[in-house]
Amino acid sequence: KFSSLLSKEIKDHEIKQIGVIGAGQMGFGIALVTAHIAQLPVKVLDSNPKQIEKGSSFVDGLLEKDIVKNRITRDKATETKSRITTTTSISEFSTMDFIIEAIPEDVDLKREIFTKLDQITSDDTILATNTSSISITKIAAATKKPDKVIGMHFMNPVPIMRLVEIIPGLDTSSHTCNVTKKLATSMGKIFTESQDVPGFIANRLLMPYINEAVIALEQGIASRDDIDTTMKLGTNVPMGPLTLADHIGLDTCLAIMKVLHKEIGDTKYRPAVLLQKYVDAGRLGKKSGKGFYEY
Ligand code: NAI
Repeated sequence: KFSSLLSKEIKDHEIKQIGVIGAGQMGFGIALVTAHIAQLPVKVLDSNPKQIEKGSSFVDGLLEKDIVKNRITRDKATETKSRITTTTSISEFSTMDFIIEAIPEDVDLKREIFTKLDQITSDDTILATNTSSISITKIAAATKKPDKVIGMHFMNPVPIMRLVEIIPGLDTSSHTCNVTKKLATSMGKIFTESQDVPGFIANRLLMPYINEAVIALEQGIASRDDIDTTMKLGTNVPMGPLTLADHIGLDTCLAIMKVLHKEIGDTKYRPAVLLQKYVDAGRLGKKSGKGFYEY
């Protein structure tokens, strides 16, 4: 019943090209599922050309792995790759139908990008943010079309994780919501919907757990390996909380905890001192080569 409703909506807003802003671990993951599963052309923008190079070889590596394992043909991989283009110039985003922002978890940075996007895109363009915790309503207020702004929160690593959280802001229209749900489905994802509250569903539950693991390490309750092994084998998850934090990025974990702490105001969300210390030292996890573990 719901899918027929969505098919009706999508006709009014046909997506021909997707723009992704931020060529980090999330941005290129989103670009890959857009090109490979939804089979739509996607343009990735980053202010840092080195990140574009890094992301591009990450995509090549994943596709090559799938070819070797006979999961896809070389032709199919070439087709997927040809759908992904890159740029460092935001002016190339003026013709996009749907834009997904995945720059760092910083409210001022995100609001600045949304103001720019609002100025250069058409009134119909939907502007989605992959924020992990920041208010969608606050980001939408940086534009003149808050009805077209929505949270589309992918999980890391995007090609593997099935879930997308969809978060309408205060003024997001039901049309924007339905087009976003349809797009998530075409990317092979299952979606859930959350209210626009700090951390939404996933990070409201996950981040305090990761933060508590860092506090346990800080207080010497157990070693790094024992904390991770206890939770990995004891709760049957693929990795322990400290390994997971390294995969997410310690800067991102810290930024999310800061949002939860500031916006909810409860001291139980205070970021672990050790988390702040690691970020200050540039130990950001897997992406910088060192976090709780070395890579
Ligand atoms: P990242 O640090 O890997 O990538 C961010 C990218 O944005 C970098 O390549 C950077 O050069 C680029 N950038 C910074 N300012 C820019 C600007 N003004 N214009 C264009 N590009 C700019 O970060 P990651 O992990 O990909 O996270 C991005 C967003 O996704 C954050 O909001 C984060 O909270 C969210 N997120 C992260 C998850 C994770 O597990 N890492 C999971 C789900 C959401």
